Amino acid sequence: MGSQQAKDTSGYKAWLALHARADEAQRKREAARYDWLAACEQHDTIAAAVSELRNGIRSILGQELREIDPNRIEQGIVIGTFDGNERIRALCGDASEQLGAEGFAIRASEGLMAIGANTPSGVLYGVFHLLRLLALGELTENLSVMERPANGLRMINQWDNIDGSIERGYAGQSIFYANDAIAFQPERVRDYARLLASVGLNAIAINNVNVHRLESGFITEPLLSRIAELAAIFRVYGIRLYLSVNFASPIEVGGLPTADPLAQDVRLWWKERADDIYRAIPDFGGFLVKADSENRPGPFTYGRNHADGANMLAEALAPYGGLVIWRCFVYDCKQDWRDRTTDRARAAYDHFMPLDGTFHPNVLLQIKNGPMDFQVREPVSPLFGAMERTNQLIEFQITQEYTGQQRHLCYLVPQWKAVLDFETFACHEGAPVKRIVDGTVFGRPYGGFAAVSNIGCDENWTGHPLAQANLYGYGRLAWNPELSAETIAAEWAAQAIGPDPQAVDTICTMLLESLDIYESYTAPLGVGWMVNPEHHYGPNVDGYEYDKWGTYHFADRYGIGVDRTVASGTGYAGQYIGDNAKAFESLDRCPDELLLFFHHVPYTHKLQSGVTVIQHIYNTHFDGAERAGELARKWQSLRHLMPDGLYLAAEARLLEQAEHAKEWRDRINTYFYRKSGIADAWGRTIY
Ligand code: GCU
Repeated sequence: MGSQQAKDTSGYKAWLALHARADEAQRKREAARYDWLAACEQHDTIAAAVSELRNGIRSILGQELREIDPNRIEQGIVIGTFDGNERIRALCGDASEQLGAEGFAIRASEGLMAIGANTPSGVLYGVFHLLRLLALGELTENLSVMERPANGLRMINQWDNIDGSIERGYAGQSIFYANDAIAFQPERVRDYARLLASVGLNAIAINNVNVHRLESGFITEPLLSRIAELAAIFRVYGIRLYLSVNFASPIEVGGLPTADPLAQDVRLWWKERADDIYRAIPDFGGFLVKADSENRPGPFTYGRNHADGANMLAEALAPYGGLVIWRCFVYDCKQDWRDRTTDRARAAYDHFMPLDGTFHPNVLLQIKNGPMDFQVREPVSPLFGAMERTNQLIEFQITQEYTGQQRHLCYLVPQWKAVLDFETFACHEGAPVKRIVDGTVFGRPYGGFAAVSNIGCDENWTGHPLAQANLYGYGRLAWNPELSAETIAAEWAAQAIGPDPQAVDTICTMLLESLDIYESYTAPLGVGWMVNPEHHYGPNVDGYEYDKWGTYHFADRYGIGVDRTVASGTGYAGQYIGDNAKAFESLDRCPDELLLFFHHVPYTHKLQSGVTVIQHIYNTHFDGAERAGELARKWQSLRHLMPDGLYLAAEARLLEQAEHAKEWRDRINTYFYRKSGIADAWGRTIY
């Protein structure tokens, strides 16, 4: 098979596969409408938009677009900015005011389709939108669309290391680095940029938040020039490049004796680095920082706080409009069973809440969606809604570290939707998380989404072909959090796999069931952390220990769960606002799915569903393993509709998942059968 053909059938093109229109009559009708293209501006991003349009129309409709002057076009497509293309102004009316810097308008009438925006990036987003509608068969003759992104920052975080490995990466090696060097194929990076831009993402941090020695040198020559080459590729697609930086860089790279954020020479050092960076990359986005977390250096070493650290970097970047994205993943790992007030879940709030209002305007706090670490089920981080005077970014994890590592199917969009829709009660008018992070509730100038990428150099990008739906869905939600998980799944399936209704229906069903299935056979009722501690894959009920006094789930022969109430536990429930604090505190009102996150209960405790905790564990584990087997069978029913490469890659993983789910079921059920002594080996309660 030639490499082009391999790309077509392996999943490399992902949701930009742009499948040919199967219905010949419809194809001809549509092709007749799109034969001319007018785009007069000289700009790399407009040129990229033109190229996407040409490819798309050729691929879907078999039509070659011919170029024509915008003032002469009478039928076809005209694209451009309001300032650069007079015809666009005339055709799109006065949309300009409402579109902001990245929005677009599409207006179709009398055979002419106009895509207009204030900026070239807006035009590119409009073109991708049009191609999506075309691929989905939803392009109408009198189309009128106006869209602008809900979130200003729509970012992806690569956890790639310069040795070519990817921390928590499950789809091969890095596409940016190899053998301790920046090493990339421009074509591959460009194709990644296209995928990201096509779903509206506009920022990328290209190295791991754990910045090792060699990567600390990214902010100095000679590596900086290579980074600038990557920035140039992303720039064309409206994506700004960011770097993760090591807080101790002044020592490691600069040879200074200290990295104290209040020391004058340290501050000067960072300013000089900012000068160098912006000389090389004039539109550099800024720094992403993991400090005082999991042994990364930070301001605590010098008796300073996070605001001191972040503000020092913010001052260096401010003259250039750069941002500091400071992560809140900070925790005290030492938890003692006997001391019920120390709690990892509390740590981020305890550290950051007192600093509200002290960060510079160009600092954003990047907060994981939950207080722990991307478990399949966690409550929403209580920092959302609590910090009224601080810019916030929500951090999701697309890479499936704790959710099956792209060997199990786990479509995460429903989880993210639930987080985004969570009402924080931060103000009377309603303050769901999505309105906090987009900045509207507290009128914050910056906000948005960040997420850990799930791609690597595997031909299909994500290892498990269906894991592409998570990357796609993340981008779509960052642009518009109102989209439903169903819509996103259907869009992805029709574009990536093909528009066949049987395939789309089956794949949507599989995707939409998968999170629930995964949760059913793994850690129950929000308790989390029953994986192997080294790599976080596979069941190990007691894998995570705080210390010799207790595991993360505190299961003993009497009961299970963590008491995080104010009345008798760690007090974490009290970090929420209003009715959330009350509901989580109350054994009667706490939602079943989070019961063991907030309460320690006997196995015989009755859930709101009416069954006991122990019975719930058995039931869900038998059910989950059964349904995991059905996922594989559903996929197999689509064999005749799939190219080999794509089909076989997913089938192998779905079969592995089916087997592994049984192992999960048996390990968990046996553990609780032994521990509680109140059920037989088949999970039938015997008390
Ligand atoms: C998790 C993950 C680490 C990662 C960390 C982070 O703990 O296991 O590999 O470095 O999150 O978000 O910084």
